[in-house]
Amino acid sequence: MVAHVVAPAAEIPPGARHVTEAAGKRIVVFNLGGEFFALADRCPHQGGPLSAGPVMGAVHSDCPGQYAYDRRGEILRCPWHAWEFDIRTGRSVFDPKRIKTRAYEARTACGAELQAETFPVRVEERYVVVEV
Ligand code: FES
Repeated sequence: MVAHVVAPAAEIPPGARHVTEAAGKRIVVFNLGGEFFALADRCPHQGGPLSAGPVMGAVHSDCPGQYAYDRRGEILRCPWHAWEFDIRTGRSVFDPKRIKTRAYEARTACGAELQAETFPVRVEERYVVVEV
């Protein structure tokens, strides 16, 4: 891996994103409350530009009739066909019913296929650095 300086950390404030290119790959870096995460700027479905997608939270339910909206600002929606990805891991967001069934095994395999490429990212002094 080669370290790639993305930008001064101060230029990517919490809630912001920054698109860069390293080793011929477009990468989008997100600041989630002071933590930096980097995803390939290419949706694993059909190559949509993830950096152009809206960021939102997730709705989950533990039982019928009750739901909660959480993880605000941590879920990225592809602008082309609305597939959603966890910014922290690059993994796609699935229907919880599928996760609870045998499909869980398929989901695990499928999750690996649907995972956006991620890169280690850290802050060195005042600069965000991505390992590519
Ligand atoms: S290209 Fe991203 S959901 Fe289809």
